[in-house]
Amino acid sequence: MAEIYADLRGVGKTFWSRRGDVTALKNINLEIRAGEFMSVVGPSGCGKSTMLKCVAGLEPTTGGAVKIRGTVVSGPPENLGIVFQRDVLLDWRSVMDNVLLPIEFRRGDKKDFTRRANDLLVLFGLDGFQSRYPWELSGGMRQRVAIARALLQDPAFLLMDEPFGALDALTRDELNIELQRIWNETKKTVMFITHSIAEAVFLSDRVVVMKRDPGEVVEVIEIDLPRPRKLAIRETREFGQYSTRIREIFERLGVYRERT
Ligand SMILES: Nc1ncnc2c1ncn2[C@@H]1O[C@H](COP(=O)(O)OP(=O)(O)O)[C@@H](O)[C@H]1O
Ligand SMILES: [Mg+2]
Repeated sequence: MAEIYADLRGVGKTFWSRRGDVTALKNINLEIRAGEFMSVVGPSGCGKSTMLKCVAGLEPTTGGAVKIRGTVVSGPPENLGIVFQRDVLLDWRSVMDNVLLPIEFRRGDKKDFTRRANDLLVLFGLDGFQSRYPWELSGGMRQRVAIARALLQDPAFLLMDEPFGALDALTRDELNIELQRIWNETKKTVMFITHSIAEAVFLSDRVVVMKRDPGEVVEVIEIDLPRPRKLAIRETREFGQYSTRIREIFERLGVYRERT
């Protein structure tokens, strides 16, 4: 058995408001294995972001507990990188200073990190853009900067909340390839949230399928496709079977009905 990196036991999250209670998460039981690439797919509002925030210690659970390497999460743990859907870059800071932002909150030798930040920017094809400003960059480049920032301190655990959701399809494909390569080289534990079935199947060792009202895990699917995966794998029969299986779960749950 692989080592368990993160463990969600009976995790629940209810938001109370004047309009009534929202059970964003109900009894989530999930183990994230060390070094695995795990994706979470589900319709809008099924609690994906809430789950990520609970794992990241940014939101307290209202039931159950999240453990990371055996320790209950009660605040943002060390050794964690997060990428959000909106890239949250600071527009008045250069690309380099945006990547270096995390070490301003922690003591660290800026010199060492400057070199690493530069290496990451080169790796992401952003060499020459170090002193540019976020508003000068395309959406894909901004998201690369955000990923470089999340990787600055070489975290063992990477949480990504629909990081490519706002990008055009070609840029998204390109970043999927890059992300797979980085994961392949570093074997980080990744929890990746997306609403794209194809993206989830392409990237993952396992795909967690969620439903909404209340947010629950419906199924966890092992993706047994060879790695490294090229984009063309999406046209294979095996890939299609995984996609179909997930789509059929959503059909059964009536996810598509409300949109037609
Ligand atoms: N801070 C909050 N206060 C009240 N309700 C919230 C809050 N955050 C999320 N919710 C509700 O919890 C549910 C799950 O939201 P979210 O985790 O953002 O879903 P997803 O990321 O899957 O789209 C939604 O019904 C949402 O409206
Ligand atoms: Mg979300």
